Amino acid sequence: MENVTITPIVKWAGGKRQLLPIIKPMLPDGYNRYYEPFFGGGALFFDLKPKKAVINDCNPFLMNMYLQVQNNAEDVMNNLQDMEGKYNHFTTDKEKTDYYLTMRRAFNNCIDHKEYSVYSASLLIFLNKAGFNGLYRVNANGQYNVPTAHRKELHLYDRNNIVGVSKVLKKAKILTGDYKIACKSAKENDFVFFDSPYYDTFDTYQAGGFTKSNHKELYCLYDELNDKGVKIMLTNNDCEFIKDLYGKYKIKSVQVKRMINCDSKNRKGKEVIITNY
Ligand SMILES: C[S@@+](CC[C@H](N)C(=O)[O-])C[C@H]1O[C@@H](n2cnc3c(N)ncnc32)[C@H](O)[C@@H]1O
Repeated sequence: MENVTITPIVKWAGGKRQLLPIIKPMLPDGYNRYYEPFFGGGALFFDLKPKKAVINDCNPFLMNMYLQVQNNAEDVMNNLQDMEGKYNHFTTDKEKTDYYLTMRRAFNNCIDHKEYSVYSASLLIFLNKAGFNGLYRVNANGQYNVPTAHRKELHLYDRNNIVGVSKVLKKAKILTGDYKIACKSAKENDFVFFDSPYYDTFDTYQAGGFTKSNHKELYCLYDELNDKGVKIMLTNNDCEFIKDLYGKYKIKSVQVKRMINCDSKNRKGKEVIITNY
C-alpha cells in the first residue's frame, strides 16, 4: 500500500498538491499520529498515507463523503458510474446542463434534510467534477450554487484510486467540526498539519469566513500544542500579520501559483510554511 500512489478524490480550493514538493522535505523526521484538522481535499494526507490519523473539516457533507468512501466505497463507485454514464450519454450541452442542475437540486435536497448518505457523498463528487473549478460554494440560505463547467465528458473516478483511498481512510478517525476540538487528543510526538483558510483572501468555505480573530485563536492553539511537544506545520499567506503572529517559530516563504482565483492577476503569490521543529 505504501508504494501505491493515491490522489485526492475532490479538487478543493486551497488544495496543497502543487506545494507538496516543498512541504514534504520539511516534514518532521518521525511522528506518531497524523492530524489534519482543516482537511479539504487532503492532498498531504493522501500523499503520506499515514498509519494512524485524525482528519477533520467543518463541512459535514465533505466529511460524510470520506466516511462513505471509507465504509461503502463500492456503493459510491456504483452511483458514480451511473451518473457518469448518464452525463456522457447526453449529446447536447443543454441536456448535460439540465442533468447537472437536476443533480445540484438533489444535493440541495440532501442539504435541506441533512442527509448524510452514500447518495449525498456521490452527488458531492459528481458536482465537484462537473462544476466550475472544483469549488464548494453555498449561498446565504446554505444552498449549493456552483455553476456547471460545461464539460463535454466526465470521468468521475478511478477504481484503483478509490480503493486505495478507502484503505488509507480506514486508518483514520474521521471527524466533522471545529479544528480546536479535532486537536484535543494530540500528544507529544504527534504531527499536526494546519491548512486553514488563509488570512486576507476571499473565503468560500463557510459563512463569515476565517477572520483575523480566528487566526489569533489558531495561533493560541499552535502555541498550546507546541507546549505539549506536538510537531506542527502551518501554511498561510506571506504577510506581515501572520509573520508577526508566528515570529518565534521557523517561517519559510515560498512562491506559488494559485489555481482557484477569479482574478488572474492574483494567481501568483507568496505563502509561508511555519514549523516548530
Ligand atoms: C485551505 S482548505 C484545506 C485544503 C487542504 N489542505 C487540501 O489539500 O485540499 C481549508 C479547509 O478548512 C475548512 N474550515 C474552515 N473553517 C474551519 C474550522 N473552523 N474548523 C474546521 N475546518 C474549517 C474548510 O471547510 C476548508 O475545507
